[in-house]
Amino acid sequence: MIRARRTLSAATAAALLGAVALPAAGAQARPGLPDLIPMPADVLPEPGSFALRESSAVRIAKDPEVARIADYFAGLLRTSHGLRLEVVTRRDARARDGGISFALDPGAPGSSPESYRLEVSPVQVVVSAREPRGLFYGAVTLWQLASAQRLHDGTLALPAMRIEDTPRFRWRGLMLDSARHFQSPEFILRYLDWMALHKLNVLGWHLTDDQGWRLEIKRYPRLTGVGAWRVPAGDAPLHDIDPGTHRPRLYGGSYTRQEVRRIVAHAAARNITIVPEIDMPGHATAAIVAYPELGVLDEPPAAVPSVWVVYPNLFNVEESTFVFIEHVLDEVMTLFPGEYIHTGGDEAVKDQWHASARIQARMRELGVASEEALQGYFTARIGAYLAAHGRRQIGWDEILAGGVPPAAAVMSWRGVEGAITAAQRGHDTVLSPAPTLYLDNRQGPTPAEPPGRGRVVTLEDVYRFDPLPGPLVHEQSRVLGVQANLWTEHVRTEADAAYMTWPRAAALAEVAWSPASGLDWDSFEQRLAAEFDRYRSLGIRYSDDVFAPPRVVGTYERHFSQDLGTCSAKLVLNLEDDAPLEGPRAVFLVDVMDPCWILPAVDLTQAAAITAAVGRVPFNFQIGRDIEAIHLDPPRTPAGELEVRLDRCDGAPAAVLPLAPAAGNDAVTVLPPAALPRQSGAHSLCLRFTQRALDPLWTIDWVQLSQ
Ligand code: ACM
Repeated sequence: MIRARRTLSAATAAALLGAVALPAAGAQARPGLPDLIPMPADVLPEPGSFALRESSAVRIAKDPEVARIADYFAGLLRTSHGLRLEVVTRRDARARDGGISFALDPGAPGSSPESYRLEVSPVQVVVSAREPRGLFYGAVTLWQLASAQRLHDGTLALPAMRIEDTPRFRWRGLMLDSARHFQSPEFILRYLDWMALHKLNVLGWHLTDDQGWRLEIKRYPRLTGVGAWRVPAGDAPLHDIDPGTHRPRLYGGSYTRQEVRRIVAHAAARNITIVPEIDMPGHATAAIVAYPELGVLDEPPAAVPSVWVVYPNLFNVEESTFVFIEHVLDEVMTLFPGEYIHTGGDEAVKDQWHASARIQARMRELGVASEEALQGYFTARIGAYLAAHGRRQIGWDEILAGGVPPAAAVMSWRGVEGAITAAQRGHDTVLSPAPTLYLDNRQGPTPAEPPGRGRVVTLEDVYRFDPLPGPLVHEQSRVLGVQANLWTEHVRTEADAAYMTWPRAAALAEVAWSPASGLDWDSFEQRLAAEFDRYRSLGIRYSDDVFAPPRVVGTYERHFSQDLGTCSAKLVLNLEDDAPLEGPRAVFLVDVMDPCWILPAVDLTQAAAITAAVGRVPFNFQIGRDIEAIHLDPPRTPAGELEVRLDRCDGAPAAVLPLAPAAGNDAVTVLPPAALPRQSGAHSLCLRFTQRALDPLWTIDWVQLSQ
């Protein structure tokens, strides 16, 4: 059993510090704890250091897998430090005469094929593991050790230590939604590179949804030919006319089979399994637009939509539709060799099934008593098809409701309850609960945060996520692991996708890999400086919000952006403007169920006027009848106005800013200042727009008070 040994005696620490002559690149971590993320299970610092330089050969036995791993390590070191190490093959790969060796060793310790041992002594470095996967992680750890050091006279001083490491969970995942917004194949390859350096080993790839079908299926070319393209929401895209078609320019993209093969091979070489998700029976609008016979309605949706909503468009349950799905899965299984295929199952609203005479007749034929049970039939049928082809089904936790095949695994997203139920019923499970493991939530409160959901999920929140909550401690064998999900409704660009992922995925990696006894937020935080050095050396865009200086509260500030909060927290989103089409766009924090903003108590003694920067965003959220509960104040002038009230949100406004100057502007407008009656002392300000319709929705970027 591997034991976490994290605390050092003062003498060991002093010996170690004395031995490491060269400065670390980042802030110094605690003495003795190497700047590694995730922290290995067992680290034993030893005196001295190994001088890594270009003449340090990497020695390996003749084995193509080991050669690939040694080359990978050498490539990383070339990227991070410009050091070019030679990889040499020899019969006795153990580098007793100095240098670095990578060796498969049946006697290496560890309970998992991902386990490895890393020994750094003043004379040699030995990485050993029973299997290539473990050896790969030994290489990653060795590179992380090196990455925290700066070159000095062509030498990197690696502190001597013995590491024996093994993962806590076997499913250490990220999910990337490439359906709502499309990322280039090159970005996916980089994303896999970054995952591997954190020992994350599963990429859930969300390839189909209402707003886009991204995977080329040879037998059904319209899935991507039609289903991968849409007109983005908002006024600006409607006026962006494609000169070729004289229609609004379409947004989209898809992955060819060749691109997918390259991505899958790239992942495999980094010990990452890609779990493709083909969502069914819901989240199917794009497929139904491409092939209307798959849907339920007589008048099926005619265009791939751009509204963020849970659509009621489900696949029907005709035999021909199952044949279609099986054909699709045949191609999916050819492209993706991993054990699991994700078949979605989430948010399948049954209104269309309920209202359709044909579906009801099919239910009678099938002897299925309810629409819920029909989803169970659907899931089981697809699960059996996958099982017959040697694969396992995994689905979102909704699949528990309709009766699910025992072999299916369950991914818990509506909190952790689905995981608990699944495990107690004997299913394997992966925890990926909203909100903590939903990376589309903002990671800090500052206005610099890119668009996303409005709730703040900090790095520390992710770090403190308990992967075995409540009764799951008794069901550990059923918990495959954890996964953080990056949904991309509001994450339009690749730069933002990276930013939303890092460093929170590093926190997830440590939760998923390191032993529970070794999780320590303070230590993790101290290791972040070196982590961020690594990100910079690799060109990873990341958030350093964790190091944002604390805000000074209570002083008079003239320009308010971060302080501007929403009046309530019904459905708070950090929404991006739909304009300009090129270049940066403003981002607005707004409660779409209650568009009202509060500036908490500020000293108004010197404030004589107020202005605001305002914009408009498409109201592209389908919230059903909840829309009737949204309160709008009627405008006093045709263009409407922004009304400012003191200390409360009703009664007569203290200032009114007409919106006419912003009426024709798709982007952000700074309104002319309006006089604010003289006040003394601190007051809160409540800001609401008057408007007749919700779409587009007025929003506030910032507010400014002047003397
Ligand atoms: C989900 O967030 N609908 C799985």
